[in-house]
Amino acid sequence: MKVSAEILSLVPYKPGKPISEVQREYGLTEVIKLASNENPLGPSPKALQAIQKALTEQHRYPDPSCYDLVQKIAQKWNVPSSQVGIGNGSNEIIDLLIRIFCEPGDSILTTEAAFVAYKVCAQAARVKVRAVPLRADLSMDLKGIADDFYRNPGSKTQLIFIPNPNNPTGTSVGGEEMDEFLTRLGNRDDVLLVFDEAYTEYVRDPQFKAAQKFYNKYSNIIVIKTFSKVYGLAGLRLGAMLAPEFVLELYNRVRNPFNVNELAQAAGIAALDDVEYIQASQKTVWEGLDFFYKELTRLKLPFFKSEGNFVLFDTQRNSEMCFTNLLKKGIILRPVTNYGFPTYLRMTVGGMAENKKAIAAIEQMLTEVPKL
Ligand SMILES: Cc1ncc(COP(=O)(O)O)c(C=O)c1O
Repeated sequence: MKVSAEILSLVPYKPGKPISEVQREYGLTEVIKLASNENPLGPSPKALQAIQKALTEQHRYPDPSCYDLVQKIAQKWNVPSSQVGIGNGSNEIIDLLIRIFCEPGDSILTTEAAFVAYKVCAQAARVKVRAVPLRADLSMDLKGIADDFYRNPGSKTQLIFIPNPNNPTGTSVGGEEMDEFLTRLGNRDDVLLVFDEAYTEYVRDPQFKAAQKFYNKYSNIIVIKTFSKVYGLAGLRLGAMLAPEFVLELYNRVRNPFNVNELAQAAGIAALDDVEYIQASQKTVWEGLDFFYKELTRLKLPFFKSEGNFVLFDTQRNSEMCFTNLLKKGIILRPVTNYGFPTYLRMTVGGMAENKKAIAAIEQMLTEVPKL
């Protein structure tokens, strides 16, 4: 069988190591996973109730149009329902946007160290990825991205992905830089600006501008949202996008008809209304991040302030060795060598007791893994 070089050289997405696997491999009973930017509070109680209620209908196919969820999102986020699309996690939306708008040989444009799914999905569709270098403080260079677009017309850039905030760096963009970017690229009819806003609810930077807020002013903006973070539903796989109608018309042709199951739809509707849970999730992350900053400073480990629910810190050691050392102590973090940070680890904010155990394990690890 003939298989393309792009598929053969594809490096599969490497998710955070599951708790059960670490328990099995290391014979541990207690394992703390701070590796996948999940919500440590468990699912929202309102979502759990909605799931319970929907369980008895599981012999039926789900509503293929996700009607109730679409209406709820349109109302909550103040957009027409004809501009709301639902996906099996935002990952599916990313994948389908690339398949819809790019042919083999076209490009997507993004930043270096961007969320890795863009690259994996693009390569699977034989689409090229161009990535503009980050600045020294790991912030995204929006000006550089716009310059690259205009400088390289031959690269056939169809989509520009802006993960804001980005994972794994935790940096965000806003202010004048965003205004300039939109002035240069907004309302063009030959490129779509895809803002991936998985973490916006955690942002504390007053300069930040969520595309969700200015989405209506531009004809070529797509905003992707996930229910996996502040809404705590990673396991159910639920994502949404706000997009111009012509995008949704194409999206609804290409996606699988029953891409989002009924439990996810019911839980999503309930989670959107669970204000108490959302606020508790934000508070947990902000307190946890401040705790990590204080402790990493005490341990003299450099880190980057984060607008997400995780922090990227420099172990000053071989991060794979650190990762394995911590696994043996029952702490799962995330190495980010594949993003170009061979001495860094990414640590998700957990509950405070988990955060304290992680820091204690890191402190011990520093005495066991040699500094480079
Ligand atoms: C920036 C970013 N976008 C999208 C996703 C994917 O989320 P989902 O669980 O909705 O597929 C993630 C997951 O970590 C992410 O970090």
